[in-house]
Amino acid sequence: MSAPAPTPPSSHTLTVLINGQSCQVPTGCNVAAAMAHAGLSGTRRSLSGEARAAFCGMGQCQECRVRIDGIPHRLACMTPCLDGMQIETEA
Ligand code: FES
Repeated sequence: MSAPAPTPPSSHTLTVLINGQSCQVPTGCNVAAAMAHAGLSGTRRSLSGEARAAFCGMGQCQECRVRIDGIPHRLACMTPCLDGMQIETEA
């Protein structure tokens, strides 16, 4: 049995920066999914210092707020990734 062929670069991916780290994610995924793809779950800290993370995935809980391209409090679960997007967490 032979080893699987390496996966060629795909036009079905794009590159985002998450906390300064370059990350290839599938085209069409949202920021919360991109963060999960990168192994991150925390988005920010509450006023009392507790770690927060995406919960509802549908724009209701507000727990997924991150800074995107310098704009704070964007909902990661409702924001599609764009090539070159800069995502910053505060967790
Ligand atoms: S996960 Fe609830 S608003 Fe984004």
